[in-house]
Amino acid sequence: MLYDKLKSYKDSGIYPFHMPGHKRNDILNDGLIPYGIDLTEIEGFDNLHNACGCIREIEKKAEKLYRVNRAFLLVNGSTGGILSSIRAMTNFGDKIIVSRNCHKSVYNAIELCGLNPEYILPEYDENNGVFTSVSPHKLEELLRENPDTKLVVITSPTYEGVVSDIKAIADICHKNGAMLFVDEAHGAHFPFSEKFPSEAVRCGADVAVVSLHKTLPSFTQTALLLTDNSELSDKLQENLSVFETSSPSYILMSAIENCLDYISENKNDFEVYTKRLDNFYCDTISLDNLTVLYNDKSFIEKCFAYDFGKIVISTAASNISGTELARILRDKYKIETEMSYTDYVIAMTSVCDSDEGFGKLKNALLEIDRTLNKNEKSHSNYNFYEIPKRNFFPYQKNNFRAEKIPFQKAQVRVSLEYIWAYPPGIPLIVPGEIITGKLINQINILFSNNIQINSTKKSMPDYIYAAEND
Ligand SMILES: Cc1ncc(COP(=O)(O)O)c(C=O)c1O
Repeated sequence: MLYDKLKSYKDSGIYPFHMPGHKRNDILNDGLIPYGIDLTEIEGFDNLHNACGCIREIEKKAEKLYRVNRAFLLVNGSTGGILSSIRAMTNFGDKIIVSRNCHKSVYNAIELCGLNPEYILPEYDENNGVFTSVSPHKLEELLRENPDTKLVVITSPTYEGVVSDIKAIADICHKNGAMLFVDEAHGAHFPFSEKFPSEAVRCGADVAVVSLHKTLPSFTQTALLLTDNSELSDKLQENLSVFETSSPSYILMSAIENCLDYISENKNDFEVYTKRLDNFYCDTISLDNLTVLYNDKSFIEKCFAYDFGKIVISTAASNISGTELARILRDKYKIETEMSYTDYVIAMTSVCDSDEGFGKLKNALLEIDRTLNKNEKSHSNYNFYEIPKRNFFPYQKNNFRAEKIPFQKAQVRVSLEYIWAYPPGIPLIVPGEIITGKLINQINILFSNNIQINSTKKSMPDYIYAAEND
């Protein structure tokens, strides 16, 4: 039974450098079993889709803590907020500019809302195979070329902790008549220490989503939709009722309130947390073959700002891959990390991590580092990332006859599927785009590094559903 599996994993002694941000700590310390508090919208318990009682009170707490005009609770993660926001901020057929490293929920919104996307590629750090910030200058040029753009969508921070200059980007968007939506799913903790980058809405974004469950002590699926743009509130609410369940979990909503109360009452914990992070980075400067990206000046210089709560360990200069490092941490040191990729591993931290946890990771990395050698050749060994040429928009994919083609022979065909590595869940190709030999090579390299590759119809790695390229 899954329940038994979860219970025995809890007692396994494996340290979680991954989501959820509560790190399996009971912040209320009352051990209450969720069955006892699982309710529905009975008298006195308000209604998420028309909040005016106890649920509205939680929203108000969020508005105060995040210093925004309007906050909405989300119970199916930032995903629901992303779908709702993009639909609320566009009309069918609108042009939008999207940073290509967006999460797949943004692509789903583009398809569902029948949008015409132009992509902007963020800057890229080739040494470690990591996207850095979106260039405001490049965005400005793209907006000039596409003056009918209604909305710009940016991910900041990224999964790897890279933050873009949202203030400059928001100014450029507004000057060019476009709104700005920021997927800030990984930045829910930003307001709670000056050592973290500034929050998107405070920097001028029209709307942002933050996943509480990723970096704060809250249950999986809990998130917030934040806006200062009062003209959008009604449309956001309307679309939240489209994309979110009509039976929102009271356990999740009360977890949001507990999380917000915990933050209000324990502000000092964030000082302790950021000191722990400072110490960790100090202690890992001496790594020789592995590199912690926050300590890598040449990487940090390529980022507008960086969330040092994300510990990204690069293996690019060593003789092991990111996936191998994650395996060693798991098998030998009982540390489970958030994700691993060709050339790096992400360890997610939160205010709920302990000195012991940080010490365990630090000691493991120092010990592993001593067993490694240098390797100048990157494991990714490809110049990621080229945006494929487009034949048609994603929402038009059902108008084309799908053929099941062996993937290795699919060059020049038009993909009818999304293909993405999970994590991070960023599409490598989108329906309507032309498959190139380079893309096939990139995907082969990801496979050989044991990266999980998914496609819409689960046909990968052997096949892909594609159309003729007329
Ligand atoms: C950048 C980014 N945006 C959005 C999401 C979706 O967030 P959620 O899992 O809260 O729905 C994720 C999930 O990992 C993500 O990495």
